[in-house]
Amino acid sequence: MKRRNFLKNSSLAAASVAFMPNANIFAKSSASNIKIGIIGVGLRGQGHLDLLLRRKDVDVVAICDVSDYMLNSAKEDITKSGKKMPAIYTGDAYAWKRMLEKEKLDGVVIATPWEWHKPMIVGSLEAGVKYVGSEVCIGLSLQDHWDVVKTAERYNAQVMMLENVCYRRDVMAVLNMVRQGLFGELIHLQGGYQHDLREVKFNNGNNPANTPVEFGEKAFSEASWRTEHSVQRNGDLYPTHGVGPVANYININRGNRFVNLCSFSSKARGLHNHVVKKGGENHPNAKVNFRLGDVVTTNIQCANGETILLQHDTNLPRPYSLGFRVQGTEGLWMDVNKSIYIQDKSPKSHQWDPAKEWLDKYDHPLWARWSKETEGAGHGGMDFFVIHAFVESIKNSKPTPLDVYDAATWSAITPLSEQSIALGNETIAFPDFTGGEWMYRKPVFALNDSY
Ligand SMILES: NC(=O)c1ccc[n+]([C@@H]2O[C@H](COP(=O)([O-])OP(=O)(O)OC[C@H]3O[C@@H](n4cnc5c(N)ncnc54)[C@H](O)[C@@H]3O)[C@@H](O)[C@H]2O)c1
Repeated sequence: MKRRNFLKNSSLAAASVAFMPNANIFAKSSASNIKIGIIGVGLRGQGHLDLLLRRKDVDVVAICDVSDYMLNSAKEDITKSGKKMPAIYTGDAYAWKRMLEKEKLDGVVIATPWEWHKPMIVGSLEAGVKYVGSEVCIGLSLQDHWDVVKTAERYNAQVMMLENVCYRRDVMAVLNMVRQGLFGELIHLQGGYQHDLREVKFNNGNNPANTPVEFGEKAFSEASWRTEHSVQRNGDLYPTHGVGPVANYININRGNRFVNLCSFSSKARGLHNHVVKKGGENHPNAKVNFRLGDVVTTNIQCANGETILLQHDTNLPRPYSLGFRVQGTEGLWMDVNKSIYIQDKSPKSHQWDPAKEWLDKYDHPLWARWSKETEGAGHGGMDFFVIHAFVESIKNSKPTPLDVYDAATWSAITPLSEQSIALGNETIAFPDFTGGEWMYRKPVFALNDSY
């Protein structure tokens, strides 16, 4: 299908979702249940598995992983749920290909290391799967991102990046406020990933004989693969939690787009210091040269005149914060001090209001509707929404509310920031994955009453 038709059909179909009757996740289990396969049932994949097992409209029919430990843990969860045990695919790094050949799947959820996302997304689409939900990010190189976009277009299929922070309760309340014009015209936005990951990037691999500063083969979960990216790469390695919400506020790919990007990297000290502190200066990992700057900042210029500042900060001691700031001609929200200020509406001029009162007042209707179902879902409940939106899109044969263009645009910040830093902070032109359609596409995110 031609790119233009694909885009046109997607936006038309998306608009019609608004008038669909409510989907019912309590629908009786039946042959019409959607069939999902999961590739990667590590820590994140098990979270998705749990949410899918709770639903009566979904059958998880196949799971794939290379780790017996993770598979056993997933199998325990399935047994506890009382659901039928899915087919298990394992044994080698390409067992997922056998899963895609053998199973007839309505959707595939991918929660593997970053380097596997692109081949697994493309492989799923080529196998005929029409809905792929991938964890962040969707590729490593810029070419990976183009490959995912082109393949989705070729097969007229949906690729949704499972960017859960778009559904965080305060983030959605602010979206509601933005859409109701409380902040006026938006001017500047900030976000990022500011999370001390030192205990995630290093561990002992559940083996007390190891030191706590292992990564790679001796380590467990993300330390077994993610840390290597901090050795090999320097850029904003995890942009989508910060940029996804911000992109929704200013309608990126839907009337607006990223035009230019420029990144800066600080020196790298945090990971080395952590290894020395916990493992001693003679530990072999104390000799590793970590390329990833401790704080990477990225500026983005948008077609409609807004600026965005993103920060990636994962190697230093700090409390968690995604550092959101949404600032317009009438006021602003900042999440680090949990405050809002709206000119002529805040009680005292030049003084912050506690954000809570505003966020409660403008709670997004989707949260009001589904808050009971979010109980126990990961990350304060927001994980419910991302899986819910994926499943409902399949059930209704509609485009996913976050689509392949959103996925590619947000996730491509990583290779572009690497390029900018490598070129001495050069400003890099942002590719337009929509091929000019950003001018005509309309916002769809969280604009229907179900997902
Ligand atoms: N959105 C969020 O809030 C959030 C939170 C955590 C992780 N994540 C993302 O989820 C993804 C997975 O992270 P994680 O924390 O679960 O990591 P993890 O290491 O715990 O899990 C990854 C799993 O993939 C499996 N795997 C690796 N190669 C495979 C292959 N070729 N075939 C099948 N399985 C394979 C591993 O054995 C492991 O079980 C990453 O993209 C990460 O960034 C997102």
